[in-house]
Amino acid sequence: MKQVAILISGRGSNMEALCQAAETTDSAYQVCRVLSNRPDAKGLQWASDHGFSTRVVDHRKFTSKAEFEAELNDDLNTAGADFVCLAGFMRLLSANFVQKWRGRLLNIHPSLLPSFPGLVPQQQALDAGVRISGCTVHFVSEDMDAGPIIVQTAVPVLPQDSEATLSKRILTAEHRTYAPALAAVCAGRVFWDGGSKATMSDEAGEPLHHYLDI
Ligand code: GRF
Repeated sequence: MKQVAILISGRGSNMEALCQAAETTDSAYQVCRVLSNRPDAKGLQWASDHGFSTRVVDHRKFTSKAEFEAELNDDLNTAGADFVCLAGFMRLLSANFVQKWRGRLLNIHPSLLPSFPGLVPQQQALDAGVRISGCTVHFVSEDMDAGPIIVQTAVPVLPQDSEATLSKRILTAEHRTYAPALAAVCAGRVFWDGGSKATMSDEAGEPLHHYLDI
């Protein structure tokens, strides 16, 4: 059974989805730690109320990013994490940290990468006038929102959408995309050769690149 730590900074709805999937009988992973860089992250309360181990590593208490990340890394090792999932974690991680967790560090982003990396990707999608958007689960690389894609879910962008309505539709897709991707990584069903592409297979060994919610 693989051990997974989840890093959050706020609401934590993706963390909840990952924790709930971990509770199912045939889960490939357990959640060994929910860690936040913000003491007031809403998701911390949910996690501790549901019996998950929580910890705050407040970035403001460290004089350098290197010290913050050293503490983060120590705690992940103490918790016995095999894999780390970023779920709305709002700190950019250094190349040094990313390299330590290479192939074991995942992120979810609310756009179809490589379109719309960075902040407010849902508004970026509306501004660009795209008809389809979605979410991407990917391995974290040194460059922000740029690592090898594991799986994507597409959703429509409707003519009457606001940032709020599009964000909600994408978030629903996120909640059903992250856990299967993490489970596949934990079960050894994601192959990454170290280059720019990763391949995910379903339980029958068939390639599984995307889900469609359209
Ligand atoms: C999600 O949209 C995620 O894709 C992005 O930040 C948001 C976090 O939401 N990286 P939540 O904290 O999981 O509810």
